[in-house]
Amino acid sequence: MAADWRRTHRCGELREEHVGQEVTLNGWVAKRRNLGGIYFIDVRDIQGLTQVILDGSEAWEGAASAEHLSPEDVVSVSGKVVMREQPNPELPTGKIEIAVQRIHKLASSELPPFEIQRDLDTKIDLRLRYRFLDLRRPDMQEKLMHRSRFVAAMRNAFLKREFIEIETPILTKATPEGARDYLVPSRVHPGNFYALPQSPQIFKQILMVAGMDRYFQVARCFRDEDLRADRQPEFTQLDMEMSFVEEEDVFMVWEEVLRDTFKDAMGVDLEEKFPSMTWAEAMERFGCDKPDTRFGCELRCLSDWVAQSGFEVFAKVLAGGGRVMGIAIPKGGAKVSRGALKKLEKFAKDLGAGGLAWWKPGESGGAAGPMARFCQEDSGASLLNTLEAGEEDLVLFCGGDEALVWRVLGELRLRLAQDLDLIPKGLWNFLWVTAFPLLEWDAEKERWSSSHHPFTAPDDWEMTGDPAKLLSRAYDLVLNGWELGSGSIRIHRSDTQAKLFKLLGIGPEEQRTKFGFLLDALTYGAPPHAGLGVGLDRLVALTLGMDSIRDVIAFPKTATAADAMCEAPSVVESALLREVHIRCEVPEPTMETDSKSVS
Ligand code: AMO
Repeated sequence: MAADWRRTHRCGELREEHVGQEVTLNGWVAKRRNLGGIYFIDVRDIQGLTQVILDGSEAWEGAASAEHLSPEDVVSVSGKVVMREQPNPELPTGKIEIAVQRIHKLASSELPPFEIQRDLDTKIDLRLRYRFLDLRRPDMQEKLMHRSRFVAAMRNAFLKREFIEIETPILTKATPEGARDYLVPSRVHPGNFYALPQSPQIFKQILMVAGMDRYFQVARCFRDEDLRADRQPEFTQLDMEMSFVEEEDVFMVWEEVLRDTFKDAMGVDLEEKFPSMTWAEAMERFGCDKPDTRFGCELRCLSDWVAQSGFEVFAKVLAGGGRVMGIAIPKGGAKVSRGALKKLEKFAKDLGAGGLAWWKPGESGGAAGPMARFCQEDSGASLLNTLEAGEEDLVLFCGGDEALVWRVLGELRLRLAQDLDLIPKGLWNFLWVTAFPLLEWDAEKERWSSSHHPFTAPDDWEMTGDPAKLLSRAYDLVLNGWELGSGSIRIHRSDTQAKLFKLLGIGPEEQRTKFGFLLDALTYGAPPHAGLGVGLDRLVALTLGMDSIRDVIAFPKTATAADAMCEAPSVVESALLREVHIRCEVPEPTMETDSKSVS
């Protein structure tokens, strides 16, 4: 190989002002055309693409000829920058090309299983299996570069505010974040296991007890839970904790950090202060704890209207202690067809509703829907008034248990907004949701469990009163309807921590074995402290308009938590298992356990 094959420029760098210079580019063959013996080759690297031309074969070194050049071969091309006869305005380098004097093939490529340069609809399992080719696509490279810029900007924003970056262990003990742990067997402690951290929660609290004052970390977290578009078994949090603070101090830091980050990484100006809303208000107005506030269609309580309507089914629901609520879908909601309404009804039933009652105020007869006869004259007028609805709207009703009504109408609201394109583009609607319930009743285990985690401070440090009504000092950060982050004021008093463990049914022995070190730390002068963990993958995906976090993770897992490229998880030699004192009892394969495909 010639010694001078190394590049003088990147492939996206050359412009008119370079004309006349001798340059060398390194990259991949993106495209090759032969026009009457003259070869036009697009050479691509992470920065861009440059057209090079060569005629004849005298420029070749170390390889046969241009005919033997295939897509994705790696080349070094040297030559003079010249003006292009036919400029390509689409390309930043489109005014120039390189008249090649020497070309060298550095590596050959097999024919790739999908096209790299163009963004075709390649199946995700193929993309993940050949991730090294998928990541060669300019679109994917741009996403990962964006992620890198984003993380750098966030890191700078925290460092600027005197936060200290500290790494916490990966081989550790279970952290109670609600998912299953990934376990790692210990060789030197037979029968003992490490857990991979679901989050650095306990360590960051310990760091506050240690007086570190302000901590942050780009932290890898591991959770064995069912995957969805916004969940991976291995993901990254921008995790932080601060001492001597209340909620508004944490909110202010994050508002500043996100404002700096959006400005630096994307040139976007965010609002000065993010709005906030209690959990109870979010549920009542949007039917969910992570409201998408970019559009209206809010839920409204219809208790008063029910008495007026004469609809007995709903009257009974109210008499039985349930709720009746409705939403109005504007902007052509009334045009939703009968067929579409049938599908919506199925959707509502799948969520637990008995059916779906609807009314089209602008229609008459059968077309107005099953609720029309209860919405005559004054009854209809007062309903429209309550829902702030008009003749063009579609009105949907739901009655039943409060949680069900919230769930059904909350989901219908989101689905119809998407179907009818009601969500304005280009908005960054951040929102703090506060005052969550402290506890949730676990019907299966017949005991209370923490809504967040058991280190979340209660609103009332003494925790008197009905456990069902206790509120916590937890908060979520929501962006455009996604839960971006979670945090809380922590319990820094060991008496409160002990009381909470008691309420959760975690006895003294279990407390000691699981969290003994934290309980010890709390007895040695723990400062009041609070923090937040933000899902970095979710944040980056949202800023790129992606529906799935898989697209912003270099090597994500498939829907069955497998790595399609390196085929992990995999069977381990029995000698290795013996070393870590493990004997496997593998169940008969089922469709589910057998498949590592993506679906
Ligand atoms: P939580 O469990 O709510 O809180 O997690 C914080 C944020 O992490 C992101 N996240 C995930 N992202 C991708 N895949 C997953 N499987 C996944 N699970 C969670 C979400 C979520 O909002 N220790 C607390 C934080 C704290 O109290 O400071 C915690 O981990 O964006």
